[in-house]
Amino acid sequence: MSAKILRSTDSGAIKECVDALTRSELVAVPTETVYGLAALATDKVAIKKIFSVKSRPPSHPLILHIADESDLEFWATDISATAKKLVGEFWPGPLTVILNRSDKVCDEITGGRQTVAIRCPSHDVTRNLLLVLGSAIVAPSANKFGKVSPTSAQHVVEDLGDEIGLILDGGECTIGLESTVVDCTTHPPQLLRAGAISVEQIRNACRVTVVEATGENRAPGMLDKHYAPKCRVVLAADDADAKRQRDDFVKQGKSTRVLDHSTDLERYAHVLYDSLRQADHDKIDVIVAVLAPNKGLGRAINDRLSKAANSFK
Ligand code: TXA
Ligand code: MG
Repeated sequence: MSAKILRSTDSGAIKECVDALTRSELVAVPTETVYGLAALATDKVAIKKIFSVKSRPPSHPLILHIADESDLEFWATDISATAKKLVGEFWPGPLTVILNRSDKVCDEITGGRQTVAIRCPSHDVTRNLLLVLGSAIVAPSANKFGKVSPTSAQHVVEDLGDEIGLILDGGECTIGLESTVVDCTTHPPQLLRAGAISVEQIRNACRVTVVEATGENRAPGMLDKHYAPKCRVVLAADDADAKRQRDDFVKQGKSTRVLDHSTDLERYAHVLYDSLRQADHDKIDVIVAVLAPNKGLGRAINDRLSKAANSFK
């Protein structure tokens, strides 16, 4: 199979995607964070395909994507006042909430858990698709398990182009990092994955304190190793440290590139995955990545950089 790429502005593109989804096919769709690999949320056959195409263990649950906050009660129960505050403030947008699942959510989505992850993406194209579909989709990032997430249709072609039928091209993802995941079944809510919406923003906008995740296996996708390019990633505390490390690697005969946008975090997030992919294209041996200040969006950037670096330990 070789994926057909539909431009989101082409007439009939949305309808073609909706038709494919209702035929149990997978469609790669753009979101403001990263591209997702979508299946109809009520279609167990299609959901199983997601796991096999991604080579993802079935115990790693998927995020349900809905068109509007008003769909939340169909898919979730016991929605706390805090959860309502959070989604009221940040949806549509890059926030995923974990809630108790309703009986509409199948085991294949949650890996048998009683909770479900839900988000309402802000990308116009995918919201429109959801509205026309009249249902929800599940969509993990459209990459092979453990690898770098795609932030453009071209990235999806490179990773999954031979294994899926359709890619809906909605341009480059504006944010470039996956959504923030907050478990709202606990009091206080817990941060399961740092993302574009920071705990500081949540505190300021909603007066809600989100604490570090505790307990075993809080987020089955929270592995220490993840987001890995083929080249080695090493971390640097600052610019001077990066130059020192680069010089050392160059002396060892390694092709080395420094990655540093630590003074412009939105840009850092936007280019991060593309830069890791580009380094592989260019057959770079080592990327020396300068850590961001560890707050706000910087926390999400550092999380992804650390996991990419851990893959070589
Ligand atoms: O930005 C995003 O969230 C992207 C776009 C495509 O929407 N999606 C995404 O999906 O990053 P994925 O599958 O790559 O990551 C989903 C994360 C995993 O860490 C998973 O473990 C966690 O959400 N998750 C899903 N359901 C969960 C649940 N019931 N309890 C705890 N964590 C859950
Ligand atoms: Mg992923």
